[in-house]
Amino acid sequence: MAYETIIVEVEDSVCTIKLNRPEALNALNSHLLGELCDALQAADQNDKVRCIVLTGSAKAFAAGADIKEMSEKSFVDMFLSDFFGEPHRDFMAIRKPIIAAVAGYALGGGCELAMMCDFIIAADNAKFGQPEINLGVIPGMGGTQRLTRFVGKSKAMDMNLTGRFMDAEEAERSGLVSRVVPAKTLLEEAQAIAAKIAEKSMLTTIAIKESVNRSYETTMTEGLLYERRVFHSLFNTEDQKEGMAAFQEKRQAQFRDR
Ligand code: HXC
Repeated sequence: MAYETIIVEVEDSVCTIKLNRPEALNALNSHLLGELCDALQAADQNDKVRCIVLTGSAKAFAAGADIKEMSEKSFVDMFLSDFFGEPHRDFMAIRKPIIAAVAGYALGGGCELAMMCDFIIAADNAKFGQPEINLGVIPGMGGTQRLTRFVGKSKAMDMNLTGRFMDAEEAERSGLVSRVVPAKTLLEEAQAIAAKIAEKSMLTTIAIKESVNRSYETTMTEGLLYERRVFHSLFNTEDQKEGMAAFQEKRQAQFRDR
């Protein structure tokens, strides 16, 4: 499928989606988000794909929602179209793991898009921020909600109220990103991590994604019960038998998603 604002490559079992609006530092407009969701849904349905990497350019993962597209809109336009509500829902419905590989700017909607992924690998030149306050608005895709869960209230308030940028080192220290790697090797490293995940059973991969995400939606007691029940259910799979047999036979497990 030919896209205009993203580049999609499937190599072995990893699908890499690169945001590609260099003239606008990958600002997220409706067209790009529509293409991104189409590509994610295609990857989710493609049996060959087992993990997804979402990346941008060396200068910008994404510099936010497209200010030029939004600037003339009224409240009624935004409210009735539920602006970016649909791509947000579509993105969050993807079942396979999505790794954000972030270099350069991840600002506003760009930072929010990275946080919608399952985890973030940052290049050492990455800069995260929620500068919407400088535009007279607030974040609309998770910058006050996910960021607060990830880095805590104090830093989330600081980032949102001042609009300052957080560098990769601070982002790692604060729990926003899982690893920082040299900018030059970012994509390579993210794809290697994705390939590692792709070796696991898809049953457990999806179960882990759903269980970790559940921890944001429910109480500890309910979340622990959900986790335990999913854990129990995996004993009805061939992959559990294979994984545990392989350990005892001191060999690599061969998972078949059964
Ligand atoms: C539209 C953008 C853009 C954006 C950059 N560009 N960010 N266009 N929307 N968010 C365009 C610029 O207009 C310019 O195009 C080109 O990209 C290069 O940008 P420069 O500003 O010339 O580059 P530089 O000086 O290096 O500065 C980089 C930057 C700056 C610090 C990232 O571009 C910046 O502050 N951008 C806006 C960041 C921001 O406020 N994001 C939040 C958006 S609101 P031209 O054609 O002029 O050369 C948001 C709400 C989300 O995200 C809500 C979701 C529901």
